Amino acid sequence: MRQLKPGIYSVGAIDWDRRLFDELIPLPDGTSYNAYLIKGTDKIALLDTVDPTKTEVLIGNLVKAGIEKINYVVAHHAEQDHSGAIPDILLLYPDAKVVVTAKCKQMLIDLLNIDEDRFLTVDDGQTLSLGDKTLQFVHIPWVHWPETMGTFLQEDKIFFPCDFFGSHLAGSSLFVDSEPVVYEAAKRYYAEIMMPFRAAIQNNLKKVGELEIEMIAPSHGPVYNKPDFIIDAYKDWVSDNVKNEVVLPYISMHGSTRKMVEHFVDALIERDITVKQFNLTVADVGELAMSLVDAATIVLGCPTVLAGAHPKVAYAAILANALRPKTKFVSIIGSYGWGGKMAEQLKGLIPNLKVELLTPVIAKGCPKDDDFAALEKLADEILARHRELNRQDGLRQIAD
Ligand code: FEO
Repeated sequence: MRQLKPGIYSVGAIDWDRRLFDELIPLPDGTSYNAYLIKGTDKIALLDTVDPTKTEVLIGNLVKAGIEKINYVVAHHAEQDHSGAIPDILLLYPDAKVVVTAKCKQMLIDLLNIDEDRFLTVDDGQTLSLGDKTLQFVHIPWVHWPETMGTFLQEDKIFFPCDFFGSHLAGSSLFVDSEPVVYEAAKRYYAEIMMPFRAAIQNNLKKVGELEIEMIAPSHGPVYNKPDFIIDAYKDWVSDNVKNEVVLPYISMHGSTRKMVEHFVDALIERDITVKQFNLTVADVGELAMSLVDAATIVLGCPTVLAGAHPKVAYAAILANALRPKTKFVSIIGSYGWGGKMAEQLKGLIPNLKVELLTPVIAKGCPKDDDFAALEKLADEILARHRELNRQDGLRQIAD
């Protein structure tokens, strides 16, 4: 148990060894499930719990600290990495009420079979006194689910936003000790978890901006004792601005698409466009997601398999479609042997992206002079589109 400020403690668990979340998202640096205990002069509140695999750690921390009574368990978010230990906590503290939004109450009943009479539902802005400490509940939907709220501890000016502003980072330091390291982890987290909800986050940032926050204590990763660092990073990520970058996830089976990718990447570099190339046989999905946060353009490099797109490239397209980056342009380069609808199929997999499709370059067999010329033309087109965005102030880092 570690102290943030007098009467406020971190009692959750560090998960050094976890390497995958949702059986999808790589966690190269592990994670933590932060739970916070707030001792007021009259009452005690536990903010969030931990993943069910770490219930013993949470209970061990509470027992070691001699906590015999908990009045409130604030469940900011129903996802099990924070709510999973609530049933055990309710058994241990039979008088505790679970403080939730109305939506979260129903989700916890559905997910964890918690009895209806254990809940206390709170509205946006409602407060709850612990004596000398006051919890103010702030509804922040879609960071990460629609039911999510945060808590502002008024006297100590600490905001507890659950997933919002978090990072999957296991570490022994309670507070941020290296901003560059945490920036990378938080950006990866934003890309994988938060990016689909960019518009909702813009609203939530405005709401959070109205609070006089001196510290942000999220439910994953270290606590921010300089909150402007992460708030400013979020403002940048959710802004409408994109960068002069092309993300190029690709697969090549017999070398034709690879030759096109290599030529095209050189063409982009010659035009001073930043390129992030990902061979999808070995790419880290998290790195790919991070690259999508601010790139202006995605180009998929894809061979044709059984008349359609290579499944690994289809997977990258589906992933981008789910993450909804603010990308402005998409194109496709690749090859085919005897026919098929590879490009049409890939286009059909990205309906959520509000992008303009630039004419694909598809070679029959290995690429010939005409195909390389078409790739040069596509690079010119991307440069022109990026410059146009630059003139509209929608893009940074490009020389006109
Ligand atoms: Fe950390 Fe959406 O749960």
